[in-house]
Amino acid sequence: MVDRSTGKAAIFLSVGLALAASLLLAPEYPFAKDYYGYGLRVTARIAFVFFMLAYLARPMVSVLGQGQWLVLHRCYLGLAAAIAHTVHFAYIVLYFQETGEEIELITIIFGGLAFVLFWFMSLTSNRLSQRVLGAWWGHLHTFGMHWIWIIFFQSWLGTAFVIPWYWVFVALSVFGLGLRIAAFVKKAPVCARGGMRT
Ligand code: HEM
Repeated sequence: MVDRSTGKAAIFLSVGLALAASLLLAPEYPFAKDYYGYGLRVTARIAFVFFMLAYLARPMVSVLGQGQWLVLHRCYLGLAAAIAHTVHFAYIVLYFQETGEEIELITIIFGGLAFVLFWFMSLTSNRLSQRVLGAWWGHLHTFGMHWIWIIFFQSWLGTAFVIPWYWVFVALSVFGLGLRIAAFVKKAPVCARGGMRT
């Protein structure tokens, strides 16, 4: 039996410290709106780091033979991403209250579903839920992870055309997806990869 409590503590401490540091090191902004915008950006980036580590864990092991630690702790990495993204949600409320801007319906639907999935996956990240939900557990967590990936990807892509260094985030997202596809292909039976080989 592997003791995962040290890794768990390290992950929760890291996300806590990252969020606290982002608050303490926040630049001085003349308007609350800009401060909340900063909070939105920082929390999205922190959530992205933890999310990608959880997203990459399994394919890293199956394709690259590396990353056992990530696989063992991927549930906590996912929870850390959900914590950071819940703070993102709090900044959304503050930002739109302050500016009085309306959130587009499409953002509410697509982004809102990502939040619901984040929270649902967090609440069901335990053995009891796994047992109760059976095969649905896997379907929901796989769907949720890919949906969240899509929302991150389109957010980075949208900005990358305006701020070129955001292509780094786009590239990291695409790398993650590529590795997942490689792992999927590797796992697929030979017939599904184009016929029987004798
Ligand atoms: C109702 C849902 C959401 C709303 C209204 C919303 C709103 C915002 C706003 C106002 C910003 C700041 C933009 C700026 O100042 O440049 C932002 C940034 C961002 N959000 Fe959200 N968000 C939502 C959900 C999500 C979700 C679910 C994700 C990811 C799964 C996400 C990922 C991001 C990313 C990646 C950024 C860019 C951070 C950066 O520029 O570094 N958002 N969001």
